[in-house]
Amino acid sequence: MFLSCIWFLELLLLSLLFNVNSAQTIVKSLPGYPGELPFKLETGYVSVGKNDTVQLFYYFIESERDAVRDPLVLWLTGGIGCSAFSGLVYEIGPLNFDAESYNGSLPSFILNPYSWTKIANIILLDLPVGTGFSYATTSQGYLSSDTKSANDAYMFLQKWLLNHPKFINNRLYIAGDSYGGKIAPMVVLEITKGNEAGLTPHMSIEGYLIGNPAMNVPKDMNWRVPYAHLLALISDEYYERAKSSCDGEYMNPNPNNTECQFALQLIKQFTDYVLSCVWMNNPSVREALQIRKGTKEKWKRCNGSLPISYDQDVTSVFDHHQVLSTKGYQALVYSGDHDMMIPYIGTLQWIRDLNLTLEEDWRPWFLNGQIAGYTLKYQFQEDQCYLTFATVKGGGHTAPEYKPKECFAMIDRWFSYYPL
Ligand SMILES: *[C@@H]1O[C@H](CO)[C@@H](O)[C@H](O)[C@H]1NC(C)=O
Ligand SMILES: *[C@@H]1O[C@H](CO)[C@@H](O)[C@H](O)[C@H]1NC(C)=O
Ligand SMILES: *[C@@H]1O[C@H](CO)[C@@H](O)[C@H](O)[C@H]1NC(C)=O
Ligand SMILES: *[C@@H]1O[C@H](CO)[C@@H](O)[C@H](O)[C@H]1NC(C)=O
Ligand SMILES: *[C@@H]1O[C@H](CO)[C@@H](O)[C@H](O)[C@H]1NC(C)=O
Repeated sequence: MFLSCIWFLELLLLSLLFNVNSAQTIVKSLPGYPGELPFKLETGYVSVGKNDTVQLFYYFIESERDAVRDPLVLWLTGGIGCSAFSGLVYEIGPLNFDAESYNGSLPSFILNPYSWTKIANIILLDLPVGTGFSYATTSQGYLSSDTKSANDAYMFLQKWLLNHPKFINNRLYIAGDSYGGKIAPMVVLEITKGNEAGLTPHMSIEGYLIGNPAMNVPKDMNWRVPYAHLLALISDEYYERAKSSCDGEYMNPNPNNTECQFALQLIKQFTDYVLSCVWMNNPSVREALQIRKGTKEKWKRCNGSLPISYDQDVTSVFDHHQVLSTKGYQALVYSGDHDMMIPYIGTLQWIRDLNLTLEEDWRPWFLNGQIAGYTLKYQFQEDQCYLTFATVKGGGHTAPEYKPKECFAMIDRWFSYYPL
């Protein structure tokens, strides 16, 4: 009682010092969904950066099971510049578009029975600035980078937790897929440094989970050629020729090397993301989500011009993973095994390169008696701390979009410290 009282005063003081400049709304209904939403959705802005010039927009959905005991997850979508909303409706959130009944008017929603919000409190953040509904009040404010994204995410969490003190003691995980999978370990490292330096609020960080993650983009992409060969999309003969002529460099080969050019004609992914644009640009939708008027002319699922003002100043996060392996965390790395953008064989290779002790060798994991993928587990430096790697059979980029049921089972087991 005494402690919690001091703790409360400390928080109060901190929030005054921090001048917590944020706005939040509980969203009870959404256009396209009949009646009240059967889950608790909050949206809001948190200002970060020097002079509070960056306004980060988020969606927060409370766990539908036990908001007090279930973990708190910060989710970062990739891109660079893809909205958190696409994580919400296409990947791990409680709503999916009802594509079948779409008739050209406002798209409608159905509930996703495999939403991760059934077992976790999830914040989906529009990061970096310029993504989704996040914006800056100055043109300078739009300049961004990996380092700035990680700092912004950390500051966002500090302020968000001060505004939501009841979640301070929940186990905290940082999650990201694709390019977000590169930023997530950077955020965990920021949190670690903050905790070690005694910054408040102290965060109950338990670990991180990354899906079809970027690690070192040119290296990740270079695995597309061996991967296409593994899938028998390119013949042995063609692969061997490319391998010997490209000298292992498939993404930036010598332009004079014509032999090598064949290997770059790889599969393009095409998925229909049209519905989210129709919905998000409808005025009644913006009103329901409490989007500030005049801050965004047009919502885009992924902001294609964002990468121009974004500096990928951290080429590789290998060292981040290595440092984190000594900090007493849990890590889950999962990959749809049909991902041509960031093939799992490359992901598995950098995990092997960490030289961790193998705890459990490659084996299938199951759902309802069917093989759902393969997994192996490495021991981190501390006892009972592991890096688990899992493939999701038949999953693309990224896995939950294609295999929601399997991914839900995977995450449920992992959050509960069960073997996959
Ligand atoms: C913050 O505001 C100060 C004073 O107005 C200004 O000198 C400085 O350049 C601003 N910094 C940023 C990053 O906008
Ligand atoms: C489209 O479907 C909605 C219900 O989902 C209905 O209200 C609307 O009238 C339909 N519009 C057309 C053009 O059929
Ligand atoms: C490609 O060939 C041209 C003409 O021979 C030469 O000038 C250029 O340096 C070569 N480029 C590379 C990357 O070797
Ligand atoms: C896309 O990002 C750029 C740079 O961050 C920003 O100037 C622009 O407003 C963003 N576009 C949208 C539609 O959000
Ligand atoms: C892993 O072990 C290999 C072989 O001993 C060594 O060359 C490499 O530097 C090690 N990597 C790390 C990250 O320690």
